[in-house]
Amino acid sequence: MIPHEAIGSIFDTARIEEVVGDFVSLKRRGSNLVGLCPFHNERTPSFHVSPVKGIYKCFGCGKAGNSVNFVMEHEKFTYPEALRYLAKKYHIDIQEEEETAEQVQEKTAREGLSVVSEYAGKYFAEQLFDSDEGKSVGLSYFHERGFSDDTIKKFQLGYSHEEWDIFTKTALKNGYSIEMLEKTGLTIVKDDKHYDRFRGRVMFPIHSQAGRVIGFGGRILTSDKTKPKYVNSPESEIYNKSKVLYGIAFAKNAIAANDMCFLVEGYTDVISMHQAGIQNVVSSSGTSLTTDQIRMIKRYTPNITILYDGDPAGIKASFRGIDMILEQGMNVKVVLFPDGEDPDSFARTRRSSEVSEFISENSKDFIHFKIDLLLKETGRDPLKRVAVLKDFIESISLIPDRLTRLAYVKESADRMQMDEQAVLSELNKVMRKKFSQKTGASEAEAALMEPPPGFFESEQQESTEKLSTEWQEKEIIRQLLLFGEEPIEVEYPDETTGKPVKRSTKVAQFIISDIRHDEISFSNPLYQKIFDAGSKTLDETEDLDYRKLTNHPDTELTQAVIDLIATKYTFSPNWERKKIRLALETEILDVHVPRCILSFKSKRVRQLMQEIEAKIKDAPTMEVQLELMQHYMNVQKVVNAIDFNLGRTIV
Ligand code: CTP
Ligand code: MN
Repeated sequence: MIPHEAIGSIFDTARIEEVVGDFVSLKRRGSNLVGLCPFHNERTPSFHVSPVKGIYKCFGCGKAGNSVNFVMEHEKFTYPEALRYLAKKYHIDIQEEEETAEQVQEKTAREGLSVVSEYAGKYFAEQLFDSDEGKSVGLSYFHERGFSDDTIKKFQLGYSHEEWDIFTKTALKNGYSIEMLEKTGLTIVKDDKHYDRFRGRVMFPIHSQAGRVIGFGGRILTSDKTKPKYVNSPESEIYNKSKVLYGIAFAKNAIAANDMCFLVEGYTDVISMHQAGIQNVVSSSGTSLTTDQIRMIKRYTPNITILYDGDPAGIKASFRGIDMILEQGMNVKVVLFPDGEDPDSFARTRRSSEVSEFISENSKDFIHFKIDLLLKETGRDPLKRVAVLKDFIESISLIPDRLTRLAYVKESADRMQMDEQAVLSELNKVMRKKFSQKTGASEAEAALMEPPPGFFESEQQESTEKLSTEWQEKEIIRQLLLFGEEPIEVEYPDETTGKPVKRSTKVAQFIISDIRHDEISFSNPLYQKIFDAGSKTLDETEDLDYRKLTNHPDTELTQAVIDLIATKYTFSPNWERKKIRLALETEILDVHVPRCILSFKSKRVRQLMQEIEAKIKDAPTMEVQLELMQHYMNVQKVVNAIDFNLGRTIV
């Protein structure tokens, strides 16, 4: 645990241009610095760093953040890892709070396993290159498969001897404990005998995201059908099969840079693709894909392309896994390799350029691919076609984004020569059913219930969208952040006479006290969070410096703050235009800020009226109905007053 004060001094000390400058070469432009974005491929720099604001923003890919966000994103650090990194860079002493005895024990156990695994990785790699058996059996096998020495070294491939306990013996002699050897599965202990799990096999070490060896796959070299082709490490405290992707440590930067992850079947596919110059490749190694693995990929990109060998049974078996990817809101494409070829054999026998060309020319959207494949099997049989449609609608219903779903509905209707409306209503039915399963409501109730945003399409969506306060909320928060310190003159009703009088205040004070006074909340929780954090700094320090919010420990909050203040023109290389634009906005604050708040209130009150209207319709008794109508009329008066004010402000 890093103490709170230390976090504060890290944020205060870290200079964004220095932190970024360690990874990106930056050139000064006006008050900012620019460079080539490290998060996507580009030729002309659109990556801006503002030392004054302490933030970076790329206008190409949209990534933005502060020093901590930068190292988190670039080095794939967790929040505490990023803080520790910066503390080290700036020689800030972080006296981490004591860990509990349990935590210490767990950590040492895991570290022990990790140390043994690293050692074993080195040992097997040495044996491959330095021992006679390793060279004549293992190395020649890899060479035959077309792996170059560079590739072999990069993936730390190795060899384990035929002899039944030589690895264990050597490890024990070097001071590694039998408990650790057994826990990693490298050694099998039976009675008081020890023997090596991997014997006479070439070794593929499995690396964690951070690049440490956590397990192994060992491939047999004979064609002995009585023995398994691959032996894999058992699960341990450091090796959890469902949370590991083979090759992730070597692929992560390329995945982020290409905004794409290729998914293949196994070790050899990953390695051959790398050798062919395609580095954004991982595999789930033998097991079927898990949600944890998908989430791991999602840290780097929302785009996955699955590379298949042409075996239809295998492809259909994988559909369930792909549905899970869709459910995570990711975009899935598939590439089918020619009959009898897998990515490994294909990459090995073609030039690199041919491999990338083949992939880009044969990538198909998964949903289209699935329809085509299923339709090919059903032919013209109408009943089977309906079954296909249902299966397919299941897949679409998993996609979280409404517009993406609608696009698929349209295209699939075309492909199946069905009425689009019919497909849509079928989709709605499925989604309602899911909704009622999730919420416990009956299906009839679910159909009446206010749908959670984007849960299913309905014609009513339109009118609630018109009353959405998103724009007003965003604008208020933006004014608060950008111009919080600016003085404004606004009219307040005088406390005793109630007559409006002009008062001088600051934008932040005005916005916060006005919204607090009327007890209005933001419907976007993120804006509410920024508003609350802003109010807190205002209460504590009597001013609102947005830097306090760009250096907030809540990364979701800082991200949103940065997106709001890092508008294109505040980063504009053209100083004059920037100043004019800002000057313009500053000049109209007196009018613009109160207007935003009024318009926000007006919509909020109208939302309230809509709610009351609905209640009036459902009122159980006449009295309740009358009471509600009275309430409605009072609210109506408020609306009129606000509208009157809004009108006056325009004049
Ligand atoms: N695999 C596994 N366990 C097995 C079989 C396969 O983990 N018992 C995984 C491995 O990651 C392997 C991938 O599935 O790389 C592909 O299997 P396969 O093509 O059979 O393995 P290769 O070593 O490529 O064998 P071959 O040379 O016959 O293609
Ligand atoms: Mn193979």
